[in-house]
Amino acid sequence: PTLMVSSTAPPPRPSATLTQDDLKKIAAYKAVEHVKSGMVLGLGTGSTAKHAVDRIAQLLQQGKLKDIVGIPTSTITHEQAVRLGIPLSDLDSHPVVDLAIDGADEVDPGLNLVKGRGGSLLREKMVESACKKFIVIVDESKLVKHVGGSRLAMPVEVIPFCWNHSLKRLVALFAYAGCVGELRKSGDGGKAYVTDNGNYIIDLYFERDIGDLNKASDAILRLPGIVEHGMFIGLATSVIVAGVDGITVKTK
Ligand code: 5RP
Repeated sequence: PTLMVSSTAPPPRPSATLTQDDLKKIAAYKAVEHVKSGMVLGLGTGSTAKHAVDRIAQLLQQGKLKDIVGIPTSTITHEQAVRLGIPLSDLDSHPVVDLAIDGADEVDPGLNLVKGRGGSLLREKMVESACKKFIVIVDESKLVKHVGGSRLAMPVEVIPFCWNHSLKRLVALFAYAGCVGELRKSGDGGKAYVTDNGNYIIDLYFERDIGDLNKASDAILRLPGIVEHGMFIGLATSVIVAGVDGITVKTK
């Protein structure tokens, strides 16, 4: 039978009967063990990071953590944190973040990531590149051999102006990898999905590995109209992977 776990119940012990959400919660709770009183915390976005935010709030309410300041990476996490009473700030007031905890869509053996399938890559990258420590929390389904070669989307945030032109230029850049791209749509009637920053997202798909990630990153960021991409190269300091056989911690 599948274990049912409420958001504030203790995480279940890894076993073959766990759901993917149980694994996300196990990874999240493990990461929150690294949170200490007085820290400035980057609060991630997504179904895995949500468990970490819940847990931080629970420890604050129990008095086990004190004087935490959170910097949310999206409006949805901002709303969650406000609802749970976590004190919040921003990078203007706290330019150095002690620790960020966030999920990822893909993790490679070098701890490079793809993020942003949830749409929050820009704020996530701003916060996570200002961190002393960035702990990534994933279930084992997120592990890949090479990021940007898994045939799943690699998101790129673009300004709405002439987005189709940006899409064509992105696709042309990665013709060697058999790239196709599409504008991300929101659920309601096929309108463009709009990010927290008022931008659009183009999802790129690759037939073949894109090769050197830093070169790919530089080429994307040189295009006018591109705001940011979802490759997080060299930013993660450790990755906590929850699998049915237990927890693995990968560190640089
Ligand atoms: C949002 C993200 C998320 O961290 C990523 O999509 C993973 O989400 P989830 O934990 O729901 O699988 O990058 O922009």
